[in-house]
Amino acid sequence: MKKVLVIGGGGREHAIVDALSRSNQVGKIYCAPGNAGISAQAECVAIKDTDVEGLLNFAMQNDIDLTVVGPEAALSVGVVDRFRSEGLKIFGHTQAATRIESSKEFAKVIMEKYGIPTASYRSFSDYGEALEYVKGRPFPAVLKYDGLAAGKGVVIAADEEEADRALKDMLVGESFGKGKVVVEDYLEGPEFSFMCFVDGHRVYPMPLSQDHKRAFDGDNGPNTGGMGAYTGLPFISDEEMDSALKNVLQKTADAMVEEGHPLSGVLYGGLMKTARGIKVIEFNSRFGDPETEVVLPLLDSDIYDIFEAVAEGRQAAPLKWSSDVTMGVVMASKGYPGSYEKGFGITVPSDATVYHMGTAMRDGKLVTAGGRVLMCVARAKNIQEAKESAYKLVGAISCDNLFFRSDIAHWAL
Ligand code: AMP
Ligand code: GLY
Repeated sequence: MKKVLVIGGGGREHAIVDALSRSNQVGKIYCAPGNAGISAQAECVAIKDTDVEGLLNFAMQNDIDLTVVGPEAALSVGVVDRFRSEGLKIFGHTQAATRIESSKEFAKVIMEKYGIPTASYRSFSDYGEALEYVKGRPFPAVLKYDGLAAGKGVVIAADEEEADRALKDMLVGESFGKGKVVVEDYLEGPEFSFMCFVDGHRVYPMPLSQDHKRAFDGDNGPNTGGMGAYTGLPFISDEEMDSALKNVLQKTADAMVEEGHPLSGVLYGGLMKTARGIKVIEFNSRFGDPETEVVLPLLDSDIYDIFEAVAEGRQAAPLKWSSDVTMGVVMASKGYPGSYEKGFGITVPSDATVYHMGTAMRDGKLVTAGGRVLMCVARAKNIQEAKESAYKLVGAISCDNLFFRSDIAHWAL
């Protein structure tokens, strides 16, 4: 039986651990650092996701057969390169390939060079030049910090004043560090997430999903890491999915091989269906969170097979997916994505699919320990039924300090 180490400690990693626990080849799962929910299915080890040497030593000492990387932070510090240099098997992209997410400019250059549809752009490192350029263009202005910014690197500025403030923050202030800003055209249309397992030229699509980035109902309030997700998008036809697979995901995989940085993990296309076709809003180099929590429960194949095939660079058997749909509601700490308190007690029904995003055990009790805390996931034959079950589950959770959106999947209903 195989021993697997999963790196990360959020809802995404809980869903990965859950999928691995359904594999009949996997005997033991470790998760670093994991969380309170994950500890029911995996042995959590207190190693930070970016502590490459700590992770490597752990994997060597414990004869880990395969390591699976969740967060981009771990990829971008080169955990994959380091594991491979020691001959260890690991699922995830190299540091160089991770730039498809970690550098907005790198991603834009690739898309332009290979004709992958996206908003046109210019990049700046000088505040004055950036401001001049933005002033001469229509608003809203889309400003993207060129580096990992934990989801806070994109500002859609409604007017000059807001753009000025954002550019100052990104290019002059201390909060981001010195970098560049990509200024791009503002696009409109429904957004969706298209994740694929990718190994060089080989691309294995997952079902489409849709995230809900704003904090409050009606897509209002500040941007968050994602407040809920579902699968079974009625507004993307099979033809559109095939075309996005061919013109975006496959082309990007091929481009990265051509550039000498083949992908070997998950490629996440954050796409938008505009009046002029499907365009790329962003790429991520890893599973989406909260998308993974609704997508992986639908995988009928053994997830260990695909992880291992990608890690070894060989062809995998085609993946089988359930035709059910899923829907999940995130429960977050009041105040999130701003400041919030932690340590509130939570009770969760034991037989439900609740992925833990930010929880901990304190004095033997489950408590809140993050901004996004839990995700309640339900599956059904159609989205209406899945929605009813997911919200029933939300209602069965008690905690004094959580809020959630009540309109997840509104685009589909
Ligand atoms: P990102 O971090 O690149 O996904 O951007 C965060 C959010 O900003 C996206 O989910 C979109 O809602 C929005 N956004 C990013 N780029 C654009 C664009 N070019 N036009 C309109 N909205 C955008
Ligand atoms: N749900 C968006 C992301 O994972 O980046």
